[in-house]
This record gives sequence, C-alpha cells and structure tokens, in this order.
Amino acid sequence: MTMTRTAAWEALAAADTADTLAALFATDPHRLATLTLDVDTLHFDWSKTHLTPALVTHFIDLAEAADLAAHRERLFAGEVVNPTEDRAATHPAERGSGEGEAVAVAARLHSRTRALVEAIGAGAFGPVRHLIHIGIGGSALGPDLLIDALGHEAEIKVEIVSNIDGLAIERACEACDPQTTLVAVASKTFTTTETLTNAAAALAWLREAGVADPLGRFVALTAAPAKASEWGVDDTRILPFADTVGGRYSLWSSIGFPAALALGWEAFAELLDGAAAMDRHFREAPWRANAPALAAFADLYYAQVRRAETRATFAYDERLRLLPAYLQQLEMESNGKGVTAEGVTLDRPSAPIVWGGVGTDAQHAVFQLLHQGTHLVPVEFVASVEAGDAQAPEHHRQLLLNAFAQGAALMAGRASEDLARSYTGDRPSSTILLDDVTPFALGALLAFYEHRVFVRATMLGINPFDQFGVELGKEMARSADGDTSGFDASTRALIERALG
Ligand code: F6P
Repeated sequence: MTMTRTAAWEALAAADTADTLAALFATDPHRLATLTLDVDTLHFDWSKTHLTPALVTHFIDLAEAADLAAHRERLFAGEVVNPTEDRAATHPAERGSGEGEAVAVAARLHSRTRALVEAIGAGAFGPVRHLIHIGIGGSALGPDLLIDALGHEAEIKVEIVSNIDGLAIERACEACDPQTTLVAVASKTFTTTETLTNAAAALAWLREAGVADPLGRFVALTAAPAKASEWGVDDTRILPFADTVGGRYSLWSSIGFPAALALGWEAFAELLDGAAAMDRHFREAPWRANAPALAAFADLYYAQVRRAETRATFAYDERLRLLPAYLQQLEMESNGKGVTAEGVTLDRPSAPIVWGGVGTDAQHAVFQLLHQGTHLVPVEFVASVEAGDAQAPEHHRQLLLNAFAQGAALMAGRASEDLARSYTGDRPSSTILLDDVTPFALGALLAFYEHRVFVRATMLGINPFDQFGVELGKEMARSADGDTSGFDASTRALIERALG
C-alpha cells in the first residue's frame, strides 16, 4: 500500500544516518557507480552528496506518495498541471515531446518562426547586422543564455534589453546601426511595462535615425498576438506561441527567435532535439537512474532534511556564465511558493534560494564561505570536457582541474590545530560534466533543470507553473504613480524625495 506523503517524509528523515561523505565512500564500494549517470552527452555525479541508495529508496516511496509518475504523464499528455490557472504546461510539446494537440500546434508555429528566420537570411529585410531583443524575465533570460553560450561567432549580433532603466536600451542602440537593425519585442502577455516602454524607445530611435518604415523592422514574439498587432506590429511579423507555455519555460517557443536567427535554424532544431532527448529520459528511466529525479532528491534532501536554505551553481565555463541567472528565475519563480496546489499553507521549506557564479572567478570571491562558513550550501559544478576557446589547452585544463579540486576540497576538508586554517570538510557538491557546450547538450541541460524543478514541486505538492507572487509589486508600482496616500510613511517619503 502506498504511504501518505507525511509518512514518507517522516520515514525519510528517520533513515538519514548523517554519515560523513568520507564514511559513505568508505563503506560502499559501489557508491560511484550508483550515484553517477550518463544521459546522452551529459555526465552527472551525485556521489559527493549525502544521498545513499537507501535514501533514494525513501525518495522513491515519497514519489509514489506524491503520485509523481501520474503527474509526469499529465504534463506530457497536455493535461491541466497548473490548477490555479486551469491550464496545461506545454513546454515539452515545443520540442515535440508528449501527446495531444499542443505538439502539432507547436510544430506549426515553429514553421512560422523558421520561415521568418529564413526570409531574413535571404535578404527580405535588406542587410541585417543587429537584432535588439526586448523582453524581461523568461522573455529574455533564455535567449540571452543561448546566444551568450553559442553565438560567439554569429554574424548577426544580438543586444538583449530587459531593464526599464533607460541606460539599457541606450547602450543597446549605441551598439547598433539603425539601418541594419531589427527589433524583436518578446512578451508572452504583451502588457509588460518594461518591455513596452523599451519597445517604444527603440521605435523612436529608428524614427529619429530616419529609417523608412520603422515599424516594419519590428518582430513580435508573444502569446497575445492581438495585443502585438494593436501595438503596431504587422501580422506577418508576429510569431505567436501557446499561452500554455510559461514565460520561464518559453525559450523553446518563438521566444527563441533571436537564438534561431543568430545561431541558425539548424542549431535551434538541435537545441530542441537535446531537450526532447532529456524528455525521453525523464519519462522512461526508472527513478533510481533518472537524472532530473536524482537531482531533485538531492535538492530535497538538503532543503528538507538538512534545512539548507540555498543551493549554489557554478559554471566552470564562460559559455555558461548566464546559467545561474537563468536558473534563479526557473527555480525560484517556479517553486518559491508558500501554498500547496490545493491551496493549503505549505508546512515545509519550498525552493532553495538559488545563487552562483562562474568558476574560477567565484573561487576568489565567495568560496571562502563555502569552505569555512557556517552555512550548509550544496554546490553544483557545471563544466565541459571540450573547451570553448582556441587558447593554449592549459587554460581549459586548469579550469577543469579547479572545478574538480574544489569539489574534492569541500568534501575532504583539512584539520589543523589553528582553527582559522582548518576546514571541516564533509561539504556536499554535485557535478554535471558535458562532453561539450553544443546546442544539443544545452537543450538537454535546460530540460533537465525544468524537470528537476517539476519533480521537486510535485513532491512538495506545489504548483510550479503560476507566479502570483510577482503581481502585488507590479500593482503597487502602478499605484505609486498616482495617489500615494495609501502607502506607508517610509515609501511616501522616498517617493516624495526622489520624484517630487
Ligand atoms: O513578472 C514575472 C513575469 O510574468 C515572468 O513570469 C515573465 O517571464 C516575465 O514577467 C515577462 O512577462 P512577459 O513575457 O509577459 O512580458
């Protein structure tokens, strides 16, 4: 008989032996084999976490109690998995995964994106050297990551503008020639203040530069095509996507247009294939050998059993330097919830706070706390066997050696009579090692993170696909622009001082 979720959590916490990592390695000769996994060109290593085969068994009991397999099937079948908004979450359909109408819809909409990319390539807009991509949150972070990771040699340079701070659009415009620039306005809702304000500034910039038909240089990427059309973008340059694709899950949809344009459609298709390969793995692999599930189990172990409040991801590869920022939205906007999907207060921590940076830079800045601080911080290293540079191989060799040595040092520690020079060790880390940072690998990696977030949400019983927490601040920013009498004294004084 399946246990209740509460009983499964209790059994899990009781089964935690709190053995050190060193002891776990010493007592289980199969540890490396059971806690490492290869999925296509990605290698995962959780052996330096405190997960054990016994704990994994308890997590599998918890997965059963949470009906994880059925939830996963509902996700891929295009059924409602976002109950507060009464809709499906069809990002897997964007890469051809799953069943139902959404897969065909996504394929049809992709062919529109592809046609526009090819028309631009064929010169339909004259020479195009720059694209200013305007969007925020999920409408910017994914494209930014993809282009930064893979677009080093792209002929079309993409400037990503997200912040409403006018300096952002100003800098982008300065980097571009208005005569050879296209502007993509990416907004699922096409109502986001930052994006529409920046889009208006870009339009004014093109007008002032004397560009003939400035609106004709605009492309809209949106799930609200009528609003984009109302704003002035011609229907032929509106690339819609389904409103069942969440913003932070949308880089696979037409939101990926700047990446498809800069990297080429083939590369974008490979990205989708990589994600589809991870979808298959997530759907088919048993939980014990399922990468998103094992990563989620480790996350849950540290957040729920050891009460770690954060998890840090360090990309030991310049190509992946934007990964931590991307993950912050994916993980914290998805799982930063205080209520369950049934509307009951969550009685345990939700998402860990996700932070991180790039190695080796971070070693010279924040790793002090990781090695000797009092907080428990599970660390994740992401690296690539192949280098992304053409410098002497020593660069990449040193980069990788540093990544691996940091994990070893966190675990081993070093005792010293001088406490200031002593390292407690037994600090957990996991490693994701890519063969190379290709579009396929990046697709698989990002889909891995999506499913990891989904597993965690399901095990906690929360809905990862809504984000009502961002609304109050938006509403109050709007009302701060008018009558401020309802605001507290501190806020009123700040408004008065800065804005008169
Ligand atoms: O405010 C949060 C949010 O709604 C994110 O979920 C989303 O990715 C971002 O704003 C941008 O929204 P849109 O794509 O509708 O402009």
